[in-house]
Amino acid sequence: SAPPLIDSFGRQITYLRLSVTDRCDLRCTYCMPERMQFLPKSEVLSLEELQRLALAFISRGVSKIRLTGGEPLVRRDMMDLVRALGREIGNGLEELTLTTNGTQLAQHAEALAAAGVKRVNVSLDTRDPALFARLTRRDQLAAVLEGIAAARAAGLHVKINTVALRGSNEAEIPDLMQWAHSHGHDMTLIEVMPLGEVEEQRADHYLPLTAVRDRLEDRFTLIPLAQRTGGPARYVRVEETGGTLGFITPLTQNFCAGCNRVRVTATGQLYACLGETEKVDLRAALRSQAPEEQLAVALDEAMHIKPERHHFQIAEGSGPALERHMSMTGG
Ligand code: GTP
Ligand code: 5AD
Ligand code: SF4
Repeated sequence: SAPPLIDSFGRQITYLRLSVTDRCDLRCTYCMPERMQFLPKSEVLSLEELQRLALAFISRGVSKIRLTGGEPLVRRDMMDLVRALGREIGNGLEELTLTTNGTQLAQHAEALAAAGVKRVNVSLDTRDPALFARLTRRDQLAAVLEGIAAARAAGLHVKINTVALRGSNEAEIPDLMQWAHSHGHDMTLIEVMPLGEVEEQRADHYLPLTAVRDRLEDRFTLIPLAQRTGGPARYVRVEETGGTLGFITPLTQNFCAGCNRVRVTATGQLYACLGETEKVDLRAALRSQAPEEQLAVALDEAMHIKPERHHFQIAEGSGPALERHMSMTGG
């Protein structure tokens, strides 16, 4: 059978983050400019190509697939992909999940659960309608909150992703956490990363999570938990709420040694690391005369280019952001 994916530092890749579209119905200020230039649809992988790609990864030992965007649920045939991949659960695939902004989750929650999805990560930086509208440039908070409630009602486990922003949602974070935990959701806080040019200075809003953690500890008791998902988050249990809180701190504390993942953009470009510009063209392999052989070659090449760690910096004067936006690689 096909060999597992092991990089040159001995890390096995078992987790694929697959972006199904670069489009999004929100315009988070730290993620995109208002007039974001999206890709022509012809550049984006077809449903059939996404399926073949996912199956190739599963045959090489990938057991967890997270569908991302942009916003995955704005893609019209997204649920067809979810249903197709859902049928692979138990055949090598252990977990199928997605990261969504939640605006269309209410319509799809039941179908996601029926397809075998157990957990969803929903991005929510604030519960204040005015701040939400300012941060995302769209007035969609009510739809997102409805989506989160519908996900819970459908039996999905929800994790709230919150980017910590200085002078913005900073003061609200403890309340947001309490709200999330009281509704049975986990929460993960994220440091803003320098991905793609946007209209504001990210350094103006950069908030190290060490500061957020100190502030939380004024009100709550945080008990460190052992590493869980092989992912980048470090988790604590909050004694007062009984909930789980994660910290994703690429800048203050990197977590690359245990990295188990690669990411593929909606155009089939594999990035072995979120912080790298080097990539492997899986779309060319998929569209070649001998796709299976070419995909195997491309995946082996990806294992050679995966770097030992990323080198993000966000301090003032640290140079331009990485050219690629988060919406290309889905985080
Ligand atoms: P689970 O651990 O499966 O819950 O997933 P996750 O937390 O990795 O997934 P999610 O899509 O919720 O990721 C949250 C955010 O963490 C992403 O959008 C990125 O901003 C960040 N992130 C995820 N993986 C990486 C990584 O490998 N490196 C860095 N620097 N950031 C990451
Ligand atoms: N830095 C950190 N997180 C980001 N996200 C989008 N852009 C950035 C960035 N530049 C987050 C979103 C969402 C997740 C998929 O990525 O808020 O929670
Ligand atoms: Fe859309 Fe997510 Fe980017 Fe916000 S962070 S604009 S929801 S892709």
